[in-house]
Formats: sequence, structure tokens, C-alpha cells
Amino acid sequence: MIVCSCQSISDKDIHAAIDWMRASDVHAIITPGKIYRALGKTPDCGGCMKLFVQKMRQNDNLEIPLELRGLRATNPHRKEVSS
Ligand code: FES
Repeated sequence: MIVCSCQSISDKDIHAAIDWMRASDVHAIITPGKIYRALGKTPDCGGCMKLFVQKMRQNDNLEIPLELRGLRATNPHRKEVSS
């Protein structure tokens, strides 16, 4: 199935790129931009992004490596808002 009609990228291309990136770097953070780059292409209109990301999420290799999860810094000065 063609996902990106501007660049003729199929769901199989997306999965192949994700699998290749994960196999070559277990710590890689895989983004749509990196997939385009891996395929030697650049996005044009961006109209496919919602479907593109949906297809990415169907790949088990997309998950963020366990040791990189939960690294988002929390702001110690942030005040909790109570209702
Ligand atoms: S359809 Fe993918 S960039 Fe236009």
C-alpha cells in the first residue's frame, strides 16, 4: 500500500527502514524524518504524515529502548494546579 504518494513510499518501505535502523542501532530514536532520510527521500506536502505515523506504530521495532524511557526532565519549579 502506498502511504506517501509524493515520494512513492509504501508501508513495506516504512517497515523495512524501521527494521534496518533498529538492527543497526538498538538505541536509535526513529522518526518519520529519519525514515525518509534512510529511504533517500524527503517529504513534500506532508499530507501523509498521519497515515505515515500510523504505519510506523504498527512496527514492533519502533518502541523506544527500555533504558531511554522516562528520561524526560520534570520541572521542579512547576506548581501543581488543583481543581
Ligand atoms: S504524500 Fe507524503 S509528502 Fe506528500
